[in-house]
Amino acid sequence: MKKKLLFLGPPGAGKGTQANLFCKKYGLDHLSTGDLLRDEVSSGSVLGLKAEEVMNKGELVSDELVLSIVEGRLENINEGWLLDGFPRNVNQANSLKSLLEKINQPLEAVVLIKCADDYLIKRLLERGRKDDNQQVIKNRLEIYREKTSPLIDLYKKEGILEEIEGNADIDVVFSCIEKSLG
Ligand code: AP5
Repeated sequence: MKKKLLFLGPPGAGKGTQANLFCKKYGLDHLSTGDLLRDEVSSGSVLGLKAEEVMNKGELVSDELVLSIVEGRLENINEGWLLDGFPRNVNQANSLKSLLEKINQPLEAVVLIKCADDYLIKRLLERGRKDDNQQVIKNRLEIYREKTSPLIDLYKKEGILEEIEGNADIDVVFSCIEKSLG
């Protein structure tokens, strides 16, 4: 089983859900930039306050802030890990590559969880997180298309992309991911 992973996909595709299940079963470190940023927001720090404003609009927090959070974590990471929600643009992907070269732990696979907009919107509205309302979801989807989706081709060219259909029951999606990484 591959154990140096990145889960990619639009908001609501199930990256977090699947990453939690996968890390629990296979003992991987789960690094979710969304969760780390929400922790920063809860701590009430100045950085957290700045990040909250951007997150509530559905925009991307600055690369500088995200990279500073990720860098510290990657330096102390185990041999098995799963990145969720990072990288989010080409600049972050390039930075990740350098960081992973430094710790001599190259990415083994990128799992793209695909899902149609109708399902994504329905799931997110039902969840109702602070950034899960019609206008912000629309913005998050646009930003995904514009800034994050170019990473699909990038990892396809590297030959490490696995594409999974995310519009199925959670356990079915999980089995497909396991099969693709086995
Ligand atoms: P982040 O927390 O990463 O949000 P996101 O990418 O929009 O992802 P979501 O958590 O909404 O979706 P998911 O794919 O993880 O699905 P989930 O499993 O939760 O980022 C939030 C914000 O932080 C960003 O907008 C940005 O501002 C900032 N940020 C984060 N990382 C950044 C970075 N690298 N650079 C800059 N800014 C960054 O599932 C969603 C719902 O669907 C749940 O209710 C779940 O129960 C349900 N569900 C999941 N799978 C299924 C299924 N198969 N069937 C039915 N329901 C399902």
